[in-house]
Amino acid sequence: MKVVALFLTILLANRAVRADDECHGTFNNLVPWSGDLVKVKEVANGSLYTAGDGDDQIFVLHVYGSPYDMGYAHGVLLKPQIQSLLPAFLKHVDEELEVYLKGLPQVVKDEVAKVGINEALEGTYLLTKPYTAQYFYDEMKGLADGAEMDYNMVIRIHMLPELVKAGCSMLGAWGDSLSSKSGLTQLRALDWDVNGPLQDYPTVVIYHPDNGHAFANVGWSGWLTTISGMSSSGLGVSEKHSDVPLGQESRSGIPFNFLMRDVLQFDESLEQSIRRIQNAHRTCSIWLGVGDGQEERFRLFEYSYSTANVYDDSNVTKIDPSRFMKEHCDQSCIDNYALKDIVYWGVHLGCWNSQLRNSHGNMSAETVINLVGKVQTGDLQAVVYDFESSKMYVSNAKGSNESGPPNAYDRQFVTLDMKALFNQTKPNIV
Ligand SMILES: *[C@@H]1O[C@H](CO)[C@@H](O)[C@H](O)[C@H]1NC(C)=O
Ligand SMILES: *[C@@H]1O[C@H](CO)[C@@H](O)[C@H](O)[C@H]1NC(C)=O
Ligand SMILES: *[C@@H]1O[C@H](CO)[C@@H](O)[C@H](O)[C@H]1NC(C)=O
Ligand SMILES: *[C@@H]1O[C@H](CO)[C@@H](O)[C@H](O)[C@H]1NC(C)=O
Ligand SMILES: *[C@@H]1O[C@H](CO)[C@@H](O)[C@H](O)[C@H]1NC(C)=O
Repeated sequence: MKVVALFLTILLANRAVRADDECHGTFNNLVPWSGDLVKVKEVANGSLYTAGDGDDQIFVLHVYGSPYDMGYAHGVLLKPQIQSLLPAFLKHVDEELEVYLKGLPQVVKDEVAKVGINEALEGTYLLTKPYTAQYFYDEMKGLADGAEMDYNMVIRIHMLPELVKAGCSMLGAWGDSLSSKSGLTQLRALDWDVNGPLQDYPTVVIYHPDNGHAFANVGWSGWLTTISGMSSSGLGVSEKHSDVPLGQESRSGIPFNFLMRDVLQFDESLEQSIRRIQNAHRTCSIWLGVGDGQEERFRLFEYSYSTANVYDDSNVTKIDPSRFMKEHCDQSCIDNYALKDIVYWGVHLGCWNSQLRNSHGNMSAETVINLVGKVQTGDLQAVVYDFESSKMYVSNAKGSNESGPPNAYDRQFVTLDMKALFNQTKPNIV
């Protein structure tokens, strides 16, 4: 009897250790910065601020008006940053091409090998143009004019997400999983490349468009399509590349980073975004997450040219595990994957699974920030959207001349009050 008890104790202890062993990081317990933004300068259709302290400072840029007006204000207000970042980023991608192309379909690799990165990006532009709204090009033209940059380079930069690959994690937690039992907390963790120049210029653009509603695009100076952001209509977006094809793929269609921006700028509800995504001419294989703070729901999209399946916590385990959990999850994690009122997917899935099981019922924006450090996800950028408090928390990788830990998930987050930012009026300048 005693022997059995001892044996069981060892077994249980081993299991506990194993679950924690899957995590290699430490909780991010740094209290997020919160305070007043500092105005840097303003022009007729935009104003530029900084948020955060010392080495964790980011730009917050408001832009107003037509697509061209907004692009122009962006270009003028961040001219030195854009002039430095865009060429440096293209050069970096070219130098690190092998890393960037890893895991992409062979036809894409072959084409890039044959024609070079600039030609391949130009090819993507031509293939996606028929499916892309004119307003994107108008804004890019404004940005190029305002920053005195080559318009074609601005276009090529925005074709990169179609051609390169990033790890990433996402999650949406609502209802019973939260300590508050109401609201929606969503994570967008971007694991990309912390050796390039992007993290030198983290920028949140608050759009106040003539057409559409206010929204925040989380990226870098000169970046105007969406891989992270939240809208004043209460939607938030997350994404993750897929390691395997999720159906047929195509290079002709609307790039996902353009489609996600349309979701933020135009959609009023999760239903509208589902319709938009299902009706789009999609291209590559990717996982998307869309959260709706009004309805307190989050959906995972299994996405490719031929596929647009939508999942919530009740049916996420119906996804073929070979597309999904298998490579990141042992059998215990697969068996216990589904959690009520949470949908999650990303790198280090075994660690996510054990941590989320521990935190279930006690989740909040604070817990999610703690967890990205533990799970080690979001090396370049980590963003938490908390819809009930209307707050967004943003962290970025260490810039070239900054100190502290290299990865965004271990650094201090900056708190942004989205209600006030979405409500901010245009500068009174003609
Ligand atoms: C910006 O705003 C002003 C005043 O609202 C307007 O007259 C101007 O044409 C706008 N566009 C640009 C590109 O400056
Ligand atoms: C999963 O469930 C949601 C509703 O809860 C539904 O909208 C969706 O279509 C389901 N997905 C699949 C692939 O059956
Ligand atoms: C709940 O989460 C908070 C914030 O992350 C943490 O400080 C607290 O210890 C947690 N409580 C429990 C019972 O796990
Ligand atoms: C970092 O510092 C070097 C030397 O002072 C400077 O040339 C460079 O522009 C700085 N980089 C950034 C991104 O500020
Ligand atoms: C939004 O702005 C209007 C007018 O500028 C002001 O009356 C209102 O209180 C603001 N709302 C919030 C939530 O800041």
